[in-house]
Amino acid sequence: MTAASTAGIPTQASPLWPARLDHIVRESDRPAALIDFYRDAIGMTPLPLGPGQWLMQGPDRRLVVAVGTRGAQPLSAFCLNDAGQLAALKAWLLAKGLALLPVTTPLFAEGFALRDPDGRLVAFGLPDPADKTTAADLAAARLSGRLQHVVVATNMLPRLVAFYEDALGFVVSDHVWEGEPGVGDVTATFLRSDPEHHSFAAFRAPEIRPDHHCFETTCWNDIRDWADHMGGQGIKLWWGPGRHGPGNNLFFMVEDPDGHKVELSAEIEVLPRDMPARAWRHEERTLNLWGQAWMRS
Ligand SMILES: [Fe+2]
Repeated sequence: MTAASTAGIPTQASPLWPARLDHIVRESDRPAALIDFYRDAIGMTPLPLGPGQWLMQGPDRRLVVAVGTRGAQPLSAFCLNDAGQLAALKAWLLAKGLALLPVTTPLFAEGFALRDPDGRLVAFGLPDPADKTTAADLAAARLSGRLQHVVVATNMLPRLVAFYEDALGFVVSDHVWEGEPGVGDVTATFLRSDPEHHSFAAFRAPEIRPDHHCFETTCWNDIRDWADHMGGQGIKLWWGPGRHGPGNNLFFMVEDPDGHKVELSAEIEVLPRDMPARAWRHEERTLNLWGQAWMRS
């Protein structure tokens, strides 16, 4: 029998909670185009980190552009609160027999990483306290947009979700079911590592690939301002505006120069840690309550 606290949260719950997405790595064989896009469209200042690596830094948002495979997103890095939480998570994962790798991102002063079943690195760490990097006064840097979640697609969804839920301790917010919940296959799962509805999600697809990452704004008017900004940059909206079912967030998406999807979002749901997972049907309306949807399978 599982021991439980009075709040309904298992006493053996992962020390992962709370963790928030700190940065991702986006690879390309033509990094200059990515650097220009994330600078001009998203308001991130480029800063060389080393050969073939650039930090893109904006207010409450950062990512690393690296020379590599076009369209790849090989690492997602989550930030913890303090050294005590980091040590507790490390001990908890080691006790499960998981293989921990040295921290593999230059943006964490300390931490560690794991390789998920699809081959992607997931890192946990603490930012470098000596980091005084500031963003330049770019037009888009005046727009609110905190890096909030990253999403992948996979041809082995149950295996991937089991790793993030059972091994790492992410909490499932919503499953999307093909057919009756609990009977058919799951086609998407949204997982949270703090009260925000998802910091990570995965879609069933014919192949393993990145899906998108998202910047969370403060309100609908921010979505308007970002769309006006994209229009001024000559960047067409790729999907939306709309409102997702799971997460209930307002959104639109654009593509970066390699076709990787970038989302602007507002009003994402917040849920308590002990809220049980909910079920949605595999249909367009689930992914966009307002209309057409990007169906990955
Ligand atoms: Fe999203």
